[in-house]
Amino acid sequence: MDLYEHQARELFEEHGILVPRAEVTDSPKEAREIARRLGGRVVVKAQVKTGGRGKAGGVKLAADPAAAEITARQILGMDIKGHTVGKVMLAQPVDIEAEFYASYVLDRAAGGFLAIASAEGGMEIEEVAATRPEAVARIPIDPAAGVTSAKAGEIAEAAGLPPQTVDVLVRLWEVLVREDALLVEVNPLVRTAQGQILALDGKVTLDDNARFRQARWGADAVEHDDALEATAAAKGLNYVKLDGEVGIIGNGAGLVMSTLDVVAGCGARPANFLDIGGGASAQIMADGLSVILSDPAVKSVFVNVFGGITACDAVADGIVRALDSIQLTKPLVVRLDGNNAARGRAILDERAHPLVQQATTMDGAAQRAAHLAAATA
Ligand SMILES: Nc1ncnc2c1ncn2[C@@H]1O[C@H](COP(=O)(O)OP(=O)(O)OP(=O)(O)O)[C@@H](O)[C@H]1O
Ligand SMILES: [Mg+2]
Repeated sequence: MDLYEHQARELFEEHGILVPRAEVTDSPKEAREIARRLGGRVVVKAQVKTGGRGKAGGVKLAADPAAAEITARQILGMDIKGHTVGKVMLAQPVDIEAEFYASYVLDRAAGGFLAIASAEGGMEIEEVAATRPEAVARIPIDPAAGVTSAKAGEIAEAAGLPPQTVDVLVRLWEVLVREDALLVEVNPLVRTAQGQILALDGKVTLDDNARFRQARWGADAVEHDDALEATAAAKGLNYVKLDGEVGIIGNGAGLVMSTLDVVAGCGARPANFLDIGGGASAQIMADGLSVILSDPAVKSVFVNVFGGITACDAVADGIVRALDSIQLTKPLVVRLDGNNAARGRAILDERAHPLVQQATTMDGAAQRAAHLAAATA
């Protein structure tokens, strides 16, 4: 899960990294009040979970509280790369002397972390890395050893950062460890005319597997790109919205991935990824179906189940009971194979729902679902 800049700022502050004074609001009127509290002149910053806000006009300097209100009104509601700005952060302007870049990121291939730092901060680091790779230092971090002062000194030296940044680099590592983050990034990390080192912008990605011990980030911290994904997440479903018209339900991520491929191979486009895992309960099936059916783009649904530990008759039971609790509005093609497949198929045959048909093979079912989607388009 990505955090908003203002949430990242809060974490930095808690770990002793200097940040500009700042407050968040969704109201232009309140923005004026905040600007007054912060001393008049403020930087107004769109809070969206995407980069390049500055370029998109989402970061602006306002000279006084009245200007802050006008600027906040402009930025609130703005669309930045498909993200609607719901809140702005107003921050005290800082007298910047130099801008740096610093981050720690999980390096899965290396089985460790990577410190990435550069004396050329402020702009997009990808651009610096592409045009002047020698300006970007990449130092592997052994997760067990972490970032000590000595390690931070090594990073600062390799990147050409001033020695005052060493303390910040150590604290930034503490943020990553204590907050269960996969990424912490400061761009820009600045040196002020007074020689202080401040984090002016922050990006933090938390490890979703550690959500249970980071309870402070409630549901409102999660931003889904899509309303259906938000609904599915609230029901605990492993659902990703795609652009097609064939809804997909399967058990096991691998099977669902190949189901998407097979449907695509039939010339149709999958409408989603949905892995119900080992869950065959009527509730999970009903939840999954209702999310998929509420996608207006969906024309047919393909339920692809390979019975392993969860037997097909249990899945068929789940489907039958789900059909009692939701209203099926689109054709459903079910392929049951594996453990107890014959019993599962018999259960569905007995239910004889007019919109449900069965196929014995994955290819055959995908073809049916693709055909039905094309026919109802
Ligand atoms: N509090 C501040 N005082 C002075 N200048 C600031 C302040 N905050 C941001 N800036 C300036 O604005 C630039 C862009 O700000 P910021 O890095 O927050 O946004 P961005 O990089 O455009 O957004 P993103 O990180 O989403 O790409 C900074 O590089 C810095 O020069
Ligand atoms: Mg930035």
